[in-house]
Amino acid sequence: MATAKVAALPLLVLLAAAMSLPPASSLAVTSTYVRPRPRATLSVLHGGDGQTPQQVHISAVGSDRMRVTWITDDDAPATVEYGTVSGQYPFSAAGSTTTYSYLLYHSGKIHDAVIGPLEPSTTYYYCCSNSTSRELSFRTPPASLPVKFVVVGDLGQTGWTESTLRHIADDDYDMLLLPGDLSYADFYQPRWDTYGRLVEPLASARPWMVTEGNHEVERIPLLHPQPFTAYNARWRMPHDAGASPSGSNLYYSFDVAGGAVHVIMLGSYTGYAAGTAQHRWLQADLAGINRGKTAFVVALVHAPWYNSNTAHRGEGDAMRAAMEELLYGTRVDAVFAGHVHAYERFARVYGSREDPCGPVHVTVGDGGNREGLAKRYVDPQPATSAFREASFGHGRLEVVNATHARWTWHRNDDDEAVVADQVWITSLASIPACNKKDSFTL
Ligand SMILES: [Fe+2]
Repeated sequence: MATAKVAALPLLVLLAAAMSLPPASSLAVTSTYVRPRPRATLSVLHGGDGQTPQQVHISAVGSDRMRVTWITDDDAPATVEYGTVSGQYPFSAAGSTTTYSYLLYHSGKIHDAVIGPLEPSTTYYYCCSNSTSRELSFRTPPASLPVKFVVVGDLGQTGWTESTLRHIADDDYDMLLLPGDLSYADFYQPRWDTYGRLVEPLASARPWMVTEGNHEVERIPLLHPQPFTAYNARWRMPHDAGASPSGSNLYYSFDVAGGAVHVIMLGSYTGYAAGTAQHRWLQADLAGINRGKTAFVVALVHAPWYNSNTAHRGEGDAMRAAMEELLYGTRVDAVFAGHVHAYERFARVYGSREDPCGPVHVTVGDGGNREGLAKRYVDPQPATSAFREASFGHGRLEVVNATHARWTWHRNDDDEAVVADQVWITSLASIPACNKKDSFTL
């Protein structure tokens, strides 16, 4: 029954305790909302036998394929059978299996298979490793606008995470974007397994596209010097697909809605300075965007480039210095970040000043992790900061048409998905005053 072959070491507890903690005190800044207390970490058990698929999640690969990833305790075939009618699986695909070791922990069998071609906006029923008793289903994203994204970072696996997931599931969406810090396993690998089980109901039903946060690094000098071992093994993203493959699971991009939206997943914890592989790839990726066809371009990072919370101040500055001009030159419409466990939305900014042709920056690192909220803000609120509140919640970006997208932030502290902030974002490609830069292709 138990999935993980575990050896819990006191060392791991010490390492986990050494991770950064949130500020201990709080200051009310923009909201008088009284937040409830933290909730405990959950531990979702596995109820099947050794060959029963668990921790199933999917990610989009190109315009018409989906990668299915799942884990079994014991050896099982890396096959996915699928079709558009429940109980009937006329199609199948074979993938591959991997495992990893981390100190004394040995993972289960991590399988992944890419299925397709798939029709857009279509529900597919599927089963993994011939386990027809565990039929799952997902819906493919649409081939054109409108398209609905959920954006939520620093998710973790507490009672608040469960609340956030419930609120996400309560309202329909097409794809989830996660700007880093998934499981908060923090070196203790069985927590990757419990996280996989917790998110499976949602992550097996819609593509979950993620990038890495600091909690994904899990590097221990001398003992386990290789970073991102669990993350790369468990959450493989389409870095080798699309128009500009990056060659690294730590940063990649993809198109959605027939190319109307381009999503760039950046890596805050791998090289990003000029001359690095990521920087060169980003330049090439941006150069390939035709804003005459791509209505919205959004980027995700983990450590925010703009932040008026006292937590993690300045941690995104070096990356911003290296890459902000590139994003500005392509008129990227919005940049979403996590890391700071609170919500904050900035005005359009570039070079630390309000700029009508700069991206809207949003920090949404408030998924519900065990470290709690970052409650202290710099006072007074900077003129560029439009709205900030330290509450758990999630965001939604609905790209309605080629000119307009609606961003909403749903506070969930009170167990109800209250819309606490919203703004309409106009595509910068549709604003003539922003279309004068040479590097901006129309
Ligand atoms: Fe973080």
